[in-house]
Amino acid sequence: MSAATLVLNGTSYDFPVIVGSEKEVGIDIGRLRATTGAIALDPGYGNTGSCKSAITYIDGEKGILRYRGYRIEELAAKASFLEVTHLLVYGTLPTAGELRRFTRQLTEHTLLHEDMKKFYEGFPPSARPMSVLSTMVASLSTYYPDTQVDLNIIRLLAKLKTIAAFSYKKSIGQPFVYPRNDLGFVADFLHMMFAVPSEPYDVPDVVHKALDMLLILHADHEQNCSTSTVRMVGSSGTDLFSTVSSGVCALAGPLHGGANVAVIRMLEAIRDDGGDHSKFIAKAKDKSDPFRLMGFGHRVYKNFDPRARLIKEATDRVLSLLGREDPLLDIAKRLERIALEDEYFIARRLYPNLDFYSGILYRAMGLPTDMFTVLFALGRLPGWIAHWKEMREMHGRLHRPRQIYTGHTERAWIPIDQR
Ligand code: CMC
Repeated sequence: MSAATLVLNGTSYDFPVIVGSEKEVGIDIGRLRATTGAIALDPGYGNTGSCKSAITYIDGEKGILRYRGYRIEELAAKASFLEVTHLLVYGTLPTAGELRRFTRQLTEHTLLHEDMKKFYEGFPPSARPMSVLSTMVASLSTYYPDTQVDLNIIRLLAKLKTIAAFSYKKSIGQPFVYPRNDLGFVADFLHMMFAVPSEPYDVPDVVHKALDMLLILHADHEQNCSTSTVRMVGSSGTDLFSTVSSGVCALAGPLHGGANVAVIRMLEAIRDDGGDHSKFIAKAKDKSDPFRLMGFGHRVYKNFDPRARLIKEATDRVLSLLGREDPLLDIAKRLERIALEDEYFIARRLYPNLDFYSGILYRAMGLPTDMFTVLFALGRLPGWIAHWKEMREMHGRLHRPRQIYTGHTERAWIPIDQR
């Protein structure tokens, strides 16, 4: 296959066919408008490849997800989040020496400029953590000039968890807990979240491991909404911090990262309503009702989401190791069972996605619901950075889609007294 032929108004045009390393096929329509005068219309970009990328591969039919060629199941079982971060951002698994250096670099840059604490004072106590996160990330660009790209990548990777933990402390009115250089990445984050000045926080091993794995599972997902936003904003040459801040904003919405909070709210609503699943399933199927089954469905996965499987297993394991029970887990499992047997969900190939069980796992670990999407952002950061870096290194074009205009054709000006 080397060309695809399009016939438009009786004239044939050939376009090159591009084949990826996993044999996926794309028609290169880069010269579509120049040769035919027409554009491609694809609202929601479900059929549009916006770039070539060597970072993450997904096969939505087979439930395959690989970062730089490594299976997600293997990374989740064997790697640490920092190894995966190195893999995504720099393209290779780090050697022992590289990992030591990388860890040291990330440890050295965890502090926020003291002046940044004043920003937190200005936010209302009710401020949503994702809004605080995007604001604080954007504000980093006022402290660090964007010319030192490599150093700024390290700064952002190191500081995001401090920003995130400070947002939480602000939301509950506790004093900020500063980072500790003797702790690893995940342990330091949990320490800043849960320690109080009079009492250090001993990170339970099971919690540490589960959070590390969750961050790995969230680390990249090719051209999803927030990553595409990062590529879009970054394509204009905007600095790293402002660009990633736009990714945080895109992630916050309930159809994307915000779904992990929405799932818990939905499960709580089912519980408070007496546990009647069928009512909620009926609402999700009713086209006149905007309600959707949160944590269900995915643009790419059409059989199962491999991340959801791993999270479901981990949720059972963590709850049992911590000796806890969560009635919301039973509600979720029942809801999943009913939905998977329902013709509506079967016909549309709607399955639990990674957000369906992740919230229950965060709850089991003692992490507060309002912080779930922030945790998603913490995990997704290496992916955003990897895509921003790849795009710059490829010297990609400014992202500037076109449209099919459906408004008025030219009309005459109407003086104000005649309207
Ligand atoms: N509940 C009920 N119906 C649904 C759902 C759902 N969760 N998801 C899709 N549908 C229906 C939809 O109404 C449509 O039906 P019809 O063909 O009769 O019009 C059909 O399934 C196809 O849906 P779509 O909206 O065209 O699919 P999409 O690929 O544009 O949307 C999605 C994908 C994730 C936005 C959507 O499935 C959804 O809204 N899910 C709930 C929110 C959610 O869990 N989001 C997290 C996504 S995974 C984490 C991440 O990457 O952010």
